[in-house]
Amino acid sequence: MTPSTSPSALADVDIAQLIGDTEDEIARLVQDRDPSTHGLYEMVRYHLALDGSGASGGKRMRPLLGLLAYASIAGDHRRALPGAAAVELGHNFSLVHDDIEDGDVERRHRATLWTIHGVPQAINTGDTLFTLSRIALHRLTDLGFSDAKVLRLMRLYDETCLALCEGQYIDIATSESDDLMGVDGYFDMIGRKTAALIAASIEAGALLATDDDEVIARYRAFGWALGLAFQINDDLLGIWGAEQATGKEASDVSHKKKTLPVIYAVEHAGPVDRERLLALYGMPDPSAAEVAEIIAILERVGARDYTRREARRYRDEALAELDATGVVAPAVRARLEEIIVGVISA
Ligand code: IPE
Ligand code: IPE
Ligand code: MG
Ligand code: MG
Repeated sequence: MTPSTSPSALADVDIAQLIGDTEDEIARLVQDRDPSTHGLYEMVRYHLALDGSGASGGKRMRPLLGLLAYASIAGDHRRALPGAAAVELGHNFSLVHDDIEDGDVERRHRATLWTIHGVPQAINTGDTLFTLSRIALHRLTDLGFSDAKVLRLMRLYDETCLALCEGQYIDIATSESDDLMGVDGYFDMIGRKTAALIAASIEAGALLATDDDEVIARYRAFGWALGLAFQINDDLLGIWGAEQATGKEASDVSHKKKTLPVIYAVEHAGPVDRERLLALYGMPDPSAAEVAEIIAILERVGARDYTRREARRYRDEALAELDATGVVAPAVRARLEEIIVGVISA
């Protein structure tokens, strides 16, 4: 069953307007509350690049996808803006904390918050972003959504944030341990830490637009496959990405992250490469030369090509799921594909 709205509802979608409206929605939420906590909101706005610096605040991919999902069913996107703001603020809470957890010093071509203000203030700024993301959702009630709808969305959002924290736990625990995880463990980890929020962003858009659970589930399946593809692609960039392009250091190997290329290489390398790779990955603080040697082994074993193929496979699966929703106008599908291929560059 498909929703009753005409698929042509979104034929002339204006991506710049969706992003601009999301920025306005977020900007309202991150204003100073009173002079004594001005510094807190300054840190929030710095991280979001809403500080007037002209720096990049990231791709705003999650709100964009959520608004497109909503608008592809309901037409105009504006009633879904609180949901869009919520997922972007939630994403940014996770990034502020992730940069502390990963010890990363650069994001979006700028210094990470903790390197400027210290870990305690950065933790609190992340918590503030998380809280603001939940406050964002309450405007849905003011816009006339039923309490039942808002509560259902809140439940989805809270369960998503919990999954994200669980995924981060697995990511940190496995990078601190010499034990290797298998491919299944890897997919479980990235499902929680990344696909859950991307899927929920899209599901939230559908949930606000329709009561049809079948349609909502299809949008979620699209988002889930997309989320997996997105993190696999991020894992490629975490080893082979150019800092000038990504705005963050390719630090996954030096932090001994158990990403897909590494798992594949350990499972498929010949005995000599395998033993050397395990020894290097077991070193507490690998030097630049040792990191380069690890990357050379990964390439030799075909881990880069395999990972790229996997990212593309899940990206294609996502597009097939999108088609299965049966409600997206051809022009919008083309825009969505453009966005997806743009962010998953594998
Ligand atoms: C980075 O996400 C964190 C991951 C889940 C891989 P994005 O690449 O969407 O980050 P921004 O918001 O565009 O900077
Ligand atoms: C992505 O973490 C997931 C979350 C932030 C929750 P990563 O550590 O893989 O992302 P980047 O590469 O730092 O953006
Ligand atoms: Mg990180
Ligand atoms: Mg991380």
